[in-house]
Order: sequence, then structure tokens, then C-alpha cells
Amino acid sequence: MAVQLSYACFSFLPMNRSRIYRPRALASEDYGTLTSHEEKVKLGGSELKVTRLGIGAWSWGDNSYWNNFEWDDRMMKAAKAAFDAGVDRGITFVDTAEVYGSSFALGAISSETLLGRFIQERKEKDPEVDIAVATKFAALPWRFGRQSVISALKSSLSRLGLESVDLYQLHWPGIWGNEGYIDGLGDAVEQGLVKAVGVSNYSEKRLRDAHEKLKKRGIPLASNQVNYSLIYRLPEENGVKATCDELGITLIAYSPIAQGVLTGKYSPENPPTGPRGQIYTPEFLTKLQPLLNRIRAIGENYNKTPTQVVLNWLISQENVVPIPGAKNAEQAIEFAGALGWRISNEENDELRSLASEIKPVIGFPVEKL
Ligand SMILES: NC(=O)c1ccc[n+]([C@@H]2O[C@H](COP(=O)([O-])OP(=O)(O)OC[C@H]3O[C@@H](n4cnc5c(N)ncnc54)[C@H](OP(=O)(O)O)[C@@H]3O)[C@@H](O)[C@H]2O)c1
Repeated sequence: MAVQLSYACFSFLPMNRSRIYRPRALASEDYGTLTSHEEKVKLGGSELKVTRLGIGAWSWGDNSYWNNFEWDDRMMKAAKAAFDAGVDRGITFVDTAEVYGSSFALGAISSETLLGRFIQERKEKDPEVDIAVATKFAALPWRFGRQSVISALKSSLSRLGLESVDLYQLHWPGIWGNEGYIDGLGDAVEQGLVKAVGVSNYSEKRLRDAHEKLKKRGIPLASNQVNYSLIYRLPEENGVKATCDELGITLIAYSPIAQGVLTGKYSPENPPTGPRGQIYTPEFLTKLQPLLNRIRAIGENYNKTPTQVVLNWLISQENVVPIPGAKNAEQAIEFAGALGWRISNEENDELRSLASEIKPVIGFPVEKL
């Protein structure tokens, strides 16, 4: 069921104008290492500090949406290399979920289990390493009330091999209501099982309700994780981004490179395979080309790749932490180059304007509830 849900869930398948950014040109191969002080931000009103960009671990162990329905040792080594390369460059925030990866198919493994192993192996070499782990509770229809949150969290901790996680999020809103789940998040904080709590795919109203309910217990709602990229700007249109800014909740941007499509590596002649091919069709990719050409040209001015430009665009919206998914070391290394510089306000606006000419793909339906 978890496998199907993880597929079903994702198979859809104020800008600060007063600041003038003076972008620093870096050679594209000079991805650098983040200086932790400069590059860490507090998640909402919580005490948790994370890097300005995290790594998404949905594809790790997954054979239901990613990886051409396969998972093997080579992919596992590549995922571990992605984790290590990110950490080597100072990206120490990793997002997973109890429904990521696969638990049932032959040879499959859960993303939480893999992440737990990667952390343990890293700690053996580097005991001081400090990884901020975010995972998520699946609001399955048969899960009721606050106790279900604690019991799912304990199972996640066991797979991760950790005593607590840094961020625990409600993956999507519950169909029977969310009050019990929000109570469960509060209980998790009070029991010392998590440092901070957040939600995901929450509308403006749900966000306000969750924020208010936790506030009564003195617990800040740290984050709302939603689909947000240059070509999927629903959070700007449905009040979610503005509400995050108003209430001091960090917006964690998922699918920030549009599942690889904004990297420029896919084209009408070379569309993505698997479920992504149903979303990002040759027709869609044809319409995307003018935007991609402009992204490339802007990147050339800064010696940056399209991937780095589109991640930088998201960070430039302020109060946004993107969590691009990395399958291998090269991808994670490239993400690090999205940090430490800024596109100009004019480029920022120009990209939004060009992107608004492209009809967005359909998102995860629950975010529109
Ligand atoms: N809360 C939610 O409901 C929800 C939903 C979706 C995702 N998420 C979270 O957000 C994370 C990221 O979202 P996502 O995985 O959907 O999409 P994404 O980050 O926009 O795209 C990730 C994919 O892009 C490709 N890619 C990554 N880096 C690249 C690079 N440097 N150059 C070229 N291609 C590159 C890889 O696939 P290929 O190499 O195969 O092209 C990779 O799997 C997930 O891992 C998960 O943690 C949360």
C-alpha cells in the first residue's frame, strides 16, 4: 500500500525587492563547500537550523516511480555517493518519508532504512557529522488520532536507527480531519522524539489552523513542504507562500527542478522515461524551450548550470528551502553550486514572467483541498 501511495501521491502526477544582490561569479566547476554559518537558516520559529538547500531522498530505494521500476546495488552505491557528496559540500539536511522507497517488492528497500545506514556509515568515519533528518507521517485513511502519529514516528525512528529526528512532517492532510494528527506532532515534540514539526501539501486554511493549534501548546509550526518550482508556482497563487511568510513558517520546496525537467537535460527528442514521461511530454518540453534557453543564458553570465539557476531562483524568493532529489554524486555536487550567489532581481522577475507563459503540469491533488 505504501508503495502505491507513494506513487499515487506523486505521480501527478514577498520577493524582497529592497535588497540588491551583487552576484558573485564562480566557475561552474567551483562548487565549493558551504560555510555552515552563512548557509544555515532556522526552520520557521523552531530552533532547528538547516542548510539553505537540502537533498530529497524519495528516489532512494524506490522502484515504483523512479529508477525505471528497478532497484539494485549500483543504484544504492550511487545514492550513498549522493549523500556523501552532499555532506562533503556542507549539505546536511536530508528529506525522506515513511512511504519512500519500497518495503514489499523483491530487492526493494525503504528510503528511511537507506538514509539511516548512510548516516551510520558516515558517522563511523566522521563522528562529529551532524545530519538534520526530516521524515514524514503518511495520513492514511485508517490512521486515527494522535497515537497513530507517535506509533508511525517510532517505526520511522527504528528504520532510521535514530532516537529522534530533526523535523517530522504530516505528509498530506488527512481525509477525516487533522486535529488528532496535529496533537500527535505536539506530543512528539514533548516526548523529545523530534526537534521541530511541519506539514506538507497544506492549503492556506489548514496551515493557519495547524499553526494556531500548535501555538496554544507553545510549539512553532516550522515548515510547510509543497510543490514549488519556476514552472509550478501554485504556492504564490493560492496564498500558501504569503501565509508562510506572514506566520514565520519556512516553505520547503519539493520537486524544485521539476523532477529533472528544469535541468535542461530532457528535450522533445529525449523526454524522461517512466511515469515522468506522462507528465513532461514532448509537447510540454517543446513549450519549455524558450524558458530553458533563457535559464541557460543567465547561467552563462554567472558560470552556472541551469539546475543551479533554477534552485537559486527559488532561494531568491526568500523563506524557501529547496530539497532537490539526487540519485548520484554528480547531481548532489551540482546542487551545492546553487548557493553562495544570487541572480539579480531583474532576472528573477524575467524568469517568472517567461515561466508564466507555460501551462503548469497537474500537481498532487490534495494540495488543492
Ligand atoms: N511532500 C511531498 O508530497 C513530496 C512530493 C514530491 C517530492 N518530495 C520531496 O522532494 C524531493 C525532491 O523532489 P522530486 O524528487 O520529486 O523532484 P526534483 O528534485 O525536482 O527532481 C529530482 C530528479 O531530477 C534529476 N536530477 C537531479 N539532479 C540533477 C542534475 N543535477 N542534473 C540533471 N538531473 C538531475 C534526477 O532524476 P533523473 O536523473 O532520473 O532525471 C532526480 O531524481 C523528493 O526527493 C522528496 O524528498 C515531497
